Amino acid sequence: MTDGSATATPAAGELSRERIARIDPSGQLGDVLALPDHLRDALWRAESAIMQDWDTSAGLVVAGMGGSAIGGALARAALGDHASRPIFVTRAYGIPTWTTPDTMVLCASYSGDTEETLACYESAGALGAKRTVVTTGGRLAEMARADGVPVIPLPAGFQPRAAVAYMIVASLEVAALCGAGPRLTSEIDVAASHLEQLVAEWGPDAPEDSLAKVLARGLFGTTPVIAGAGLTNPIAYRWKTQINENAKQPCFSHELPELDHNELAGWEGAHEVGRFSAVFLDDSDAHPRVKQRMDLTEQMIAGNAVASFRLETRGQTAIERVLSLVLLGDLVSIYLATLRGVDPGPVPVLDELKATLARM
Ligand code: F6R
Repeated sequence: MTDGSATATPAAGELSRERIARIDPSGQLGDVLALPDHLRDALWRAESAIMQDWDTSAGLVVAGMGGSAIGGALARAALGDHASRPIFVTRAYGIPTWTTPDTMVLCASYSGDTEETLACYESAGALGAKRTVVTTGGRLAEMARADGVPVIPLPAGFQPRAAVAYMIVASLEVAALCGAGPRLTSEIDVAASHLEQLVAEWGPDAPEDSLAKVLARGLFGTTPVIAGAGLTNPIAYRWKTQINENAKQPCFSHELPELDHNELAGWEGAHEVGRFSAVFLDDSDAHPRVKQRMDLTEQMIAGNAVASFRLETRGQTAIERVLSLVLLGDLVSIYLATLRGVDPGPVPVLDELKATLARM
């Protein structure tokens, strides 16, 4: 990890449980720390909900938005080269035109009332695709029950984005069910134990110089720009969205090698227009040229970034490695919210937009 944050705004005070609790009445920190338990509970729920194998030769489409869609993208990253059929994530009002009766469409919506996902559910039905739903209820559950579509039920009471482990496991289980990937049940179980160690290492009871706390202080007062590559690409997007929704501040993400063909040039003027920091998410299995690009890119933007961090996934299997940096990003976003003094839970502006649209 490198840190050029000599000029960063100082973020005073301990990141203790007590301090976090003062700004976090709905317990978002607790939901992040419970990721290992969510994984185990999610396995049980997915396995008890779906009885039959539905082989779909055309692969899997995961349809959802925001915190409900990211599980599909992270699951696809965890399957990597082991995916044997196409796995496509759609965040839109429709599903791809190539969807056929031989495609499985997993409609993922925590609330069950997201209009884009409801539209995807209907278009999947119109195209005769096989459907599965993962939700707490809402209109999506009502329609699925009426249509005899299997529902993986989720526990209520979370912010949708805090149910990420449930959404990853549902996507992985449905991918296995429809023949798009191997069953990862035992790897998920092992990954849950691995995450417990990382919770102790990076959680609120860890020292002030532990990684997640150092990162939050380094990013505080800046606009973070997160870079992923391959397996870490959807994790970079997860960091961005968690920093947006929990810390209520701008944050952007991009991917290597693509960003070396455009964003790199934008860093030249970064110091003139704002305080930007960079986070590079590396993985032990990344392409060797991507690793060289990360080194070079970090060196070349150094003078224009307020702070720069290079992080690597932890763990053996792909699912362990994916979850390691998801946990780290989720913790960093809660610590950033704490440093900023904002409640990480509610996202009233998103609710307001949904309510306004519903009246139109
Ligand atoms: C809120 C959040 C959002 C929602 C999105 C879709 O915590 O993360 O990104 O996930 O607005 O809503 P659901 O998940 O209910 O379909």
